[in-house]
Amino acid sequence: MNMNIMNVDYSTKIPNNVNLSEDRQVLKALEGWHPGYIDWWNDMGPDGFQQSLVYLRTAYSVDPRGWAKFDYVKMPDYRWGILLAPQEENRKIPFGEHYGEPAWQEVPGEYRAMLRRLVVIQGDTEPASVEQQRHLGKTAPSLYDLRNLFQVNVEEGRHLWAMVYLLQKYFGRDGREEADELLRRRSGDEDSPRMLGAFNEKTPDWLSFFMFTYFTDRDGKMQLHSLAQSGFDPLSRTCRFMLTEEAHHMFVGETGITRVVQRTCDAMKEAGVTDPADIAKVRALGVIDLPTIQKKLNLHYSLSLDLFGSEVSTNAANAFNAGIKGRYHETQIQDDHQLKNDTYPVLKLINGEAKRVDEPALTALNMRLRDDYTQDCVKGMLRWNKVISTAGYDYKLALPNVVFHRAIGEFKDVHATPDGILIDDATWAKRKGEWVPSTEDGAFIASLMTPVTEPGQFASWISAPKVGIDNKPGDFEYVKIET
Ligand SMILES: [Fe+2]
Ligand SMILES: [Fe+2]
Repeated sequence: MNMNIMNVDYSTKIPNNVNLSEDRQVLKALEGWHPGYIDWWNDMGPDGFQQSLVYLRTAYSVDPRGWAKFDYVKMPDYRWGILLAPQEENRKIPFGEHYGEPAWQEVPGEYRAMLRRLVVIQGDTEPASVEQQRHLGKTAPSLYDLRNLFQVNVEEGRHLWAMVYLLQKYFGRDGREEADELLRRRSGDEDSPRMLGAFNEKTPDWLSFFMFTYFTDRDGKMQLHSLAQSGFDPLSRTCRFMLTEEAHHMFVGETGITRVVQRTCDAMKEAGVTDPADIAKVRALGVIDLPTIQKKLNLHYSLSLDLFGSEVSTNAANAFNAGIKGRYHETQIQDDHQLKNDTYPVLKLINGEAKRVDEPALTALNMRLRDDYTQDCVKGMLRWNKVISTAGYDYKLALPNVVFHRAIGEFKDVHATPDGILIDDATWAKRKGEWVPSTEDGAFIASLMTPVTEPGQFASWISAPKVGIDNKPGDFEYVKIET
């Protein structure tokens, strides 16, 4: 495959709206990077299925009325494009010290290092999740789910391209070096891990995949929203278009969990199980009991909270002041967008208790974004709990308290219950298994992960989706598996 690289017409091979064919330098840099990307995809992308035809959408424009085309594609032939949301005329920097000045079309020298770092951190998460999910194809509960996994994977690949484009176009030599580093680090690797904790965790099974796409991709959504506010216009435009795709990733997570909960409730009802907490009885039905789903939720939510960094952060304040990274829905907030004298209530550990304390709003931006994230996460609970109550069961899935199971920020050195009650190390050690998945829980879920590859068929532990992708019928062959 690499032999043909030189003959590839990049201007048509890479769908783009950045005039690549006339941007020879960037084109050359991307050509230089492409073989390494393909090597990475082959080594670290989906394990198997690389020769299968997958019914995927490919972004080819940024027109909100029709930006993607669906067709059967072999994943290595996917057209990873570079698409930026249309340039807004006379866009102004919407926050910080440069509030109201024209948005930058080039990198401002004084913020170069800060900007590069943010682009690299965002870029690093994209291939990381592909690496974390690479084994899942082998245990997909249906062709529909297999296709969704691969759709998410190729789009995370495209998001890597998007960040690499920014690095190569705007950051010269060190940008090119960073672009190479993005292909060198590996999720979970001891010597050169990915940059953020949650992206070095395992995604061992499909319930984890759905939790990951619900909770961790949603962190991505929050970060992209803040970067979409950036005074550096190319970054803003890039992130705005990435958000369009990100919505599908979270859809996969939300509906995936809905379908798992649905199937569990249906199976309990059919078997006449009245107590959803009777784990042995529920598991005997070949479905995942609600308490275990809650434990997975506890784990993935707490890991994702860590991605927001320390509650109080001067880095976040500097990025805001600089006009580089704004707040969620910055332009819709009614204030001076400079936060000169504002405060924000930050959750802190004070005399062994979690308390909200007013801090300068500028340094509390991570906390604020995390609060926005928590609010956004709640929607899923409502939907899943509706399924449970409609089935007639008295059980509620809930987000654990933010002090629970944290590795970063104010609460990293203490233990707490999901209700937010602080406990000592011994109690944590003894009761941990009630709150995060135990080895046995993992083994049980793993025992259910047998692949289903018949069109229209689904594994025992998950119900069929309500509608197909691209309005396809229930028995549509989303992946033509080549063995
Ligand atoms: Fe992404
Ligand atoms: Fe995503």
